[in-house]
Amino acid sequence: MKLTNFCWLLFSSFVLLYSCAKRDVVLFDFENKGYQGWMLQGEAFGEAPATGPLEGQLPVAGFAGERLVNSFHGGDDMCGEMYSPEFVIERDYINFLLGGGMGADVFIALEVEGKRVFETHPVVESETLQWYSWNVEEYLGRKAVVKIVDNQRGGWGHILVDQIEQGDKAKSVIMPDYEKTFAITQKYLLIPIEDKGPESQVVIRQGTKRLSETLYIRVAQTQIDYWVPIDVEAYKSQNITLWFQHVKAGDIGFPRICQSDSFEFDYAEPYRPAYHFSPYYGWTNDPNGMVYQDGKYHLFYQHNPYGSMWANMHWGHAVSEDLVHWQHLPAALAPDDLGSIFSGSAVVDADNTAGLGKGALIAIFTSSGKRQTQSLAYSMDGGRTFTKYAGNPVLTDADMIDFRDPKVFWHEDSKRWVMSLATSQTISFYNSADLKTWMKQSEFGEGVGAHGGVWECPDLFPLQTPDGKTKWVLLVSINPGGPNGGSATQYFIGDFDGKTFKADALPYPLWLDYGRDNYAGVTWNNAPHGRRVFIGWMSNWDYANQVPTVHFRNAMTLPRELFLQNSGGHLVLASRPVDELTQLRGQVVSFPIQRISSKGASIDNLFEGNTGCFELEMVVVPNGASKFGFGFVNSKGECLNYTFDREKMCLELDRSKAGRSDFSGKFATVSQAPLPACSEYRIQLFMDKSSAELFVNDGEVTMTDVFFSSDVFAGMRFFSSDLCNWTVKDMKVYSLEKIR
Ligand code: FRU
Repeated sequence: MKLTNFCWLLFSSFVLLYSCAKRDVVLFDFENKGYQGWMLQGEAFGEAPATGPLEGQLPVAGFAGERLVNSFHGGDDMCGEMYSPEFVIERDYINFLLGGGMGADVFIALEVEGKRVFETHPVVESETLQWYSWNVEEYLGRKAVVKIVDNQRGGWGHILVDQIEQGDKAKSVIMPDYEKTFAITQKYLLIPIEDKGPESQVVIRQGTKRLSETLYIRVAQTQIDYWVPIDVEAYKSQNITLWFQHVKAGDIGFPRICQSDSFEFDYAEPYRPAYHFSPYYGWTNDPNGMVYQDGKYHLFYQHNPYGSMWANMHWGHAVSEDLVHWQHLPAALAPDDLGSIFSGSAVVDADNTAGLGKGALIAIFTSSGKRQTQSLAYSMDGGRTFTKYAGNPVLTDADMIDFRDPKVFWHEDSKRWVMSLATSQTISFYNSADLKTWMKQSEFGEGVGAHGGVWECPDLFPLQTPDGKTKWVLLVSINPGGPNGGSATQYFIGDFDGKTFKADALPYPLWLDYGRDNYAGVTWNNAPHGRRVFIGWMSNWDYANQVPTVHFRNAMTLPRELFLQNSGGHLVLASRPVDELTQLRGQVVSFPIQRISSKGASIDNLFEGNTGCFELEMVVVPNGASKFGFGFVNSKGECLNYTFDREKMCLELDRSKAGRSDFSGKFATVSQAPLPACSEYRIQLFMDKSSAELFVNDGEVTMTDVFFSSDVFAGMRFFSSDLCNWTVKDMKVYSLEKIR
């Protein structure tokens, strides 16, 4: 062939190719200062396309040109719908950019000759738009309209749309209905996680059989922060499928999911407590189902085994014989078709009142699905395995949205089980003879106590007063609305007759703990010797999901025994660390009496080999000084300061310079507690790497706070802004041992 002929052939094939690949047709680019022929209803879409984020919205990215459709006008609660002018379908695909919320009532739809043929919801909650595509081959030549809908109120109730085009190719990299099957040869499937990435919806299947409810897992898209295991040992030499609602082509995580016989990670990462209970890995919030049976304290807890952020609520499980050393056990309860497993309690049914077995350990918890309802599960092997009761749910309410956290105990006088349940901003009391049928008896809380947020996690129990009378204490956690911001636990003291709780006239709200990090705590059922032992969640919903830990997030407070004590003319609820903790004491250093002038004083090194785990005891004598205090200091210049203000009669904790606080604007705060009026203060303080628990006068006032310092607080300083000298006496520091 001659060269000219060859060139001619090449040229004509290019022309042919070019004319086959028809150019994209832009249907709507929303670049004008009006909606140009679209029909609008409602206010959410405003008068014209937006130029980016609207007031109160996070940054919006990923749109084309200068403008986009944004239904955040007036915030998430505004609703609206918009219809496009009619157009003819001329290409195989319609591509568009989409972002916003994932709710059922935010979507973009295609209607062909009046019939809806596609309805697409964003697959992640995001203010960054990405390409989506509809394959419309079968509708070529037909007339269509696009409808954009935002009828969703509340969080993420808005939609973002831009650049609706017709073209020959799909532009979306979203692969819906993606699945991967593994022939199981090892113990775990390891999943790479990106902590701040969006959640993927995952179902574990075997063939067509579902082995799990939908799990929300942050499978890595751009970086791997840590791994989580799915235990598949029971399926060795069988096939297991992971189904994903969608994946994005190019995400790095999906191809890296692998099998392994071991699950290794840095258990001792810097902020992991040494002697507080923390989950082996993954997220925790409230302690649950605390009960003592056959020599063992059971601690269940709100747990996400698939990541270090709140999601997929299971009941994790641990047991201890001494409240100090904990053995981690496999998760006790996993989500089911009634919902995820929210907080609740456990009892030992010694007389088989429920007919589920004599001595059964019965968990009563909230199933949180479309509604919140109460369910049962029982165990005949000391909590190792649970069976969900076939008649679940056992308690429902048609209207209540916040209807949760049942705490049940046996009320001997009325020979009935009593349940305290959080019902919005009150606590409702129910009773039952068999744990299965519950009758409402009364409701407490209107017009009394703090009401700055939703009421959660109640607990009702009797305690002896110092003069030997019985009084009933009702714990109620509240979020937000705590005395120092965010979550906290208030209490009421009064009488209970098996049906109704009547609070004594006291200066409510009264707080169990004035620190920022003691929430959702309740007490053990059946603890031996009539002890009332409490444990709380050592975090705050203000920042719990953001604290800078990796393989685990959040821990529990120390276990504490509760007492009624007289203070300031009335009864208060005091918390004292349980005696069992003294077994952790290692070396002890005693310090001589110190008189602190306005020059201050300091101790550079409390003891050799300090790893940030110690207990401090001392007596603080003000001697007329009005503002003074002590603090912990480290080599990086960070400090955690406690200030006694005898004029304002308050005790202040300042953690704003105690280390990292960049992860949340709500963390670097100064908290205040009321200071009892007395001539000396007995101080007991427990430090554990990233937490400090202060007990004043045998727990009359407590402050529990976490912090994230860059080095161990090895030294102390004492300060005074007053001419009077104050005194520190009987000061001792004990190093404390690790529990695992
Ligand atoms: C309290 C709480 C409970 C709920 C649980 C869900 O922190 O909100 O009311 O049962 O957490 O994890």
